[in-house]
Amino acid sequence: MKSRLLLALALGLAWNTLLAADTNAPATPYILTPAAPATPRINGANVFGVRPGSPFLYTIAATGDRPMKFSARNLPRGLKLDAKTGQITGMLKSQGEFIVTLGAKNSLGAAGKIFRIVCGDQIALTPPMGWNSWNCFAHAVSADRVKRAADAMVKSGLINHGWTYINVDDYWENHRSSKDPTLTGPFRDAKGFIVPNVRFPDMKGLADYVHGLGLKIGLYSSPGPWTCGGCAGSWQHEQQDAQTYAKWGFDYLKYDWCSYGDVVSGLVTNVMKVKSSGTPHKTGDEAIHPYQLMGKFLREQKRDIVFSLCQYGMDDVWKWGGSVNGNCWRTTGDIIDLWATTDHKWQGSVTSIGFSQDAAAPFAKPGNWNDPDMLVVGEVGWGKTHPSRLTPDEQYTHISLWCLLAAPLLIGCDMEKFDDFTLNLLSNDEVLAIDQDALGKGATCVINHGDVRIYEKELEDGGRAVGFFNLGAMPVELKFNEFSRLGLAGKQNARDLWRQKDVVAVDTAKDSLPLTIPAHGVLLYKFTAAK
Ligand code: GAL
Repeated sequence: MKSRLLLALALGLAWNTLLAADTNAPATPYILTPAAPATPRINGANVFGVRPGSPFLYTIAATGDRPMKFSARNLPRGLKLDAKTGQITGMLKSQGEFIVTLGAKNSLGAAGKIFRIVCGDQIALTPPMGWNSWNCFAHAVSADRVKRAADAMVKSGLINHGWTYINVDDYWENHRSSKDPTLTGPFRDAKGFIVPNVRFPDMKGLADYVHGLGLKIGLYSSPGPWTCGGCAGSWQHEQQDAQTYAKWGFDYLKYDWCSYGDVVSGLVTNVMKVKSSGTPHKTGDEAIHPYQLMGKFLREQKRDIVFSLCQYGMDDVWKWGGSVNGNCWRTTGDIIDLWATTDHKWQGSVTSIGFSQDAAAPFAKPGNWNDPDMLVVGEVGWGKTHPSRLTPDEQYTHISLWCLLAAPLLIGCDMEKFDDFTLNLLSNDEVLAIDQDALGKGATCVINHGDVRIYEKELEDGGRAVGFFNLGAMPVELKFNEFSRLGLAGKQNARDLWRQKDVVAVDTAKDSLPLTIPAHGVLLYKFTAAK
């Protein structure tokens, strides 16, 4: 009892009570996400952006027993729906906003949803959701593994929750010095067009395969002569590369600073001497220029290519990333699957990265997303995978926080090795809806007391998503009553999003909300004004 009181006093909170609970959080995985019903339910964002003249591909994400029959009422001219797969394809010629009613029907019932298609300048109106090869395969990626990842995205059912992109990271190009025969070969052809390594014999075929599943595909390069891994980058071939990506049918480009710092420093008299990574960081025009260039060339393509800037937050990228046609930008160094780190220069942990995003948060908006790096749940390990070293509660924290921050959600694990816990973590539609909310706000920390951090995000429907995080190694119990600091007034319904359950209706003027937050864990609630 004494220790409980000590904790309450040490935190010095204005809440009614604050006690350390007796039990420790279970270290074994525990699933909170309720199973999706067998009746149809349409998931995913309720808005989608496309540019006039670009090929259109949107797959209606729906859970429920198959076979399912899809419908789309008021689909604008130029688009058509495949009623069996739910894939909407075609092309829109001119700008406009179209309100469509999506439907999904199976033998057990039917569901509908109002969906907004915005044909205009901006794409990625909600944060991109998908997978990237780096955190699991790193230098060992191949077209075969990418296809299998796409298959796994479908087979696991993740596609039914709105997961879309299958992104190839570094090592699809030939390497500057590797002895590995599968990475050795010409960097470019006689005309200067990029030549993939032999692991990627047919880039267009690969893109077609992924599109055929109703998914999209992404690629990786650097503005410098070398990528961070030492493969061929886009330096002096930016326009050709943008054209090539479009010709192959790619939908996403991650553009990683890597060796470009040496280019700016004037060190390219001998390209082979340019270092691939860890090169000098720059500011102002020097930092912006390479992204401006590629952003312009990508925009010139008749294809919507999400432009993802990767330069680790240099020169407050969130302030200018949108102006170079960027859709998302890394705000930090690389993430690793640890709760905290002390000794890494350029790597960050889930807490060091996740809980330090406040400066960038106000710059998040539809089409422009802060990217605190990819997810480190499931089997990760950069070439030699292991189960994420985060505890189950730390993983709930990771996903909740990334959703509150409106971060791009890029799964980093080997999707052929999904376990039930990881899959459930990535398929909670009410949690994902916070990330995909069409208002596009990024949460900030509103209350910071001791080990407790309370993050809040405004939602399109007028509700607020609130994450009650506990950074401490002991569970925390509190009776929360500081509603006015969250801008909440009157009667509010509180819903637990992980459990998908209404918790209680509170009168913010007089009630308090009892909360038990697990060690290193979170409670993710949505507050909605009671009618
Ligand atoms: C790093 C980047 C990683 C990965 C890697 C590839 O700079 O942050 O996400 O892309 O390069 O070499």
